Amino acid sequence: MKIHLNDLTPELFLEKYWQKQPLIIKAAFADFVDPIEADELAGLAMEDFIESRIVSNNNSQWDVKHGPFTDYSEFGENNWTLLVQAVNNWFEGVDALITPFQFIPNWRIDDVMVSFSTPGGGVGPHLDQYDVFIIQGQGKRHWRVGKPDQALEQLLPHEDLKQVSDFQAIIDVITEPGDLLYIPPNHPHDGIAIDNSLNYSIGFQAPNPQELISGFADYLLDNQLFEQRFNDSARRVTKKPHTLESHDIALLTEVMNSCFNQPELLVDFLGKQLTQVHHTLNLLIPTQELDFQTIEQILAEGEVLSPVLGLKCLVVTDLSHPTLYANGESFEISQHCLELANTLAQKVPIDYAIIESYRQCLKCQQLLAKVINKGLWTFE
Ligand code: SIN
Ligand code: CO
Repeated sequence: MKIHLNDLTPELFLEKYWQKQPLIIKAAFADFVDPIEADELAGLAMEDFIESRIVSNNNSQWDVKHGPFTDYSEFGENNWTLLVQAVNNWFEGVDALITPFQFIPNWRIDDVMVSFSTPGGGVGPHLDQYDVFIIQGQGKRHWRVGKPDQALEQLLPHEDLKQVSDFQAIIDVITEPGDLLYIPPNHPHDGIAIDNSLNYSIGFQAPNPQELISGFADYLLDNQLFEQRFNDSARRVTKKPHTLESHDIALLTEVMNSCFNQPELLVDFLGKQLTQVHHTLNLLIPTQELDFQTIEQILAEGEVLSPVLGLKCLVVTDLSHPTLYANGESFEISQHCLELANTLAQKVPIDYAIIESYRQCLKCQQLLAKVINKGLWTFE
């Protein structure tokens, strides 16, 4: 699927709009075809491993119900919206919606949330902490987007629904199939469906220092690193035992800084942290461990290897050993395997012809076998 940014290049988009101001691009996707139907979305929200909710609004009475859902009849024909997270982990066509946005690195992308709204449906005016691209699928929706405004009142019409007071719109548009809306973080927005409407939200992740540091602390614990305790063997007699003195502050600060002064560790932590998915993946672990010969044989029969949908993977070469990260795990690779690791991380389907060139490299064979046996790559 090709994106038409009109006169805008990805470079200009990043310079002018990304994290700065909202944008509407009409007909960004020519002849847009929905990669999922409303019925399929409703079916997905019946599964207990799927995160979904229905927000309804009847006579200004907001309600939120969480999935899995067994029946939708109670919601009627109007004024509700079904929101399903990480649909890209289950529908290939939905996952493909990410491709046009790959001028931004994969690690920044979180998931594709899909909503189905009946006329009048929406979640009300609100703020999100993350950037989002919203593609309009079937139907039409009235979208309004404003600027960040400290004066906006925070509202809680339901304990699970954060909204803000009415805002002044700088974008006020009826979106039609193929239109694209970009909303930076903390810009108030509100989309009200005009008719039965499907929307695809490509959502981003932007870790904050709290998440990074607590994640790093977990990483140190898991790997039993920096366990040595504070050492003050050079201590002198204090005349102020009731105070925390500057030399002790300096020593304690040094203890903390020593963890962050290890670039190899930090990069390894980032690779693992940033490839963790926040929703269930359809991991397909083989019933029997496969060795390279078996893998080769399956590919020779015409099958193709692909990553499970929604898998996050990255190659990091800024380490003493280049490393492939996938689903929060690291796979150390040699220079020989770098090409294969890049092919894997770029999610290129791997067929017999591709595998041919790796027949001489034992490390490549082991890498392939590992990712397959962990259920991260699978045969189609
Ligand atoms: C949607 O209803 O499709 C998107 C909700 C939102 O604005 O976050
Ligand atoms: Co939003």
